[in-house]
Amino acid sequence: MKLEIMRFDGKRVERYEEFEVGRVATLLEAFYRIKEFEDPTFTFEAECRSGICGACAVRVNGKERLACSHTPMENDRIEPLEYHEVQRDMLVRREDSFEKLTKAGAYLHRYERSVPDTKEERKTEIQSDCILCESCYSACPVLAIDGSFLGPFALSRAYRYAADSREGAKEEIVASVQNSGVWDCTLCGECTAVCPQGIDPKGDILALRTLSLQSGYSDPNFATLSFSTPDFSF
Ligand code: SF4
Ligand code: SF4
Ligand code: FES
Repeated sequence: MKLEIMRFDGKRVERYEEFEVGRVATLLEAFYRIKEFEDPTFTFEAECRSGICGACAVRVNGKERLACSHTPMENDRIEPLEYHEVQRDMLVRREDSFEKLTKAGAYLHRYERSVPDTKEERKTEIQSDCILCESCYSACPVLAIDGSFLGPFALSRAYRYAADSREGAKEEIVASVQNSGVWDCTLCGECTAVCPQGIDPKGDILALRTLSLQSGYSDPNFATLSFSTPDFSF
């Protein structure tokens, strides 16, 4: 089987290179074969090899996939994640998006003793399944034009804490997601479509918008629009 793979050595321009990988069960297996038999400099990231660590996310024909759980097809085009600085071949820098977790306030601020009921638990448990693969970042069109956007997984996790009754400082989290956050999302749903864990960042962002409105915030985009009665006097 032939694969077309983007190469980048960290200095020169990106280029595509074809590799014959034979029969493989997963794309990650193809990566190991290339490294072992074709080019030892080929660089990629992988740890668990079983869809748990999120390290091996790449793009296959423009769609985000985990290399360890994707079965490649003839002539697939493989590229690193979008909107990340590429360090070498498939290896990307992830620090920026981790920093956004902090900016979005996506952590427990102040613990309050409370026993969440089953309904609440269901609402907030799936976001904890996030494997930080960053596929949702790579799929988000807002990040193509605005690198400061907090992005789907940080906002999804911020909602997870803002909706938890054990969080005693929900208002701090809601305040953290107002700038470059909930109101900048286009609600396209690309993040939800690519998540290998079945998380719905788009839905969580909508829920965060509701919490924002209930806390007295409003969509800043509406501030530039006029809803007054049209002038028919001319
Ligand atoms: S729904 Fe929002 S966060 Fe998700 S990909 Fe679209 S713009 Fe980005
Ligand atoms: S929300 Fe889903 S796609 Fe985004 S980083 Fe987490 S697991 Fe990956
Ligand atoms: S190697 Fe861990 S998710 Fe693929």
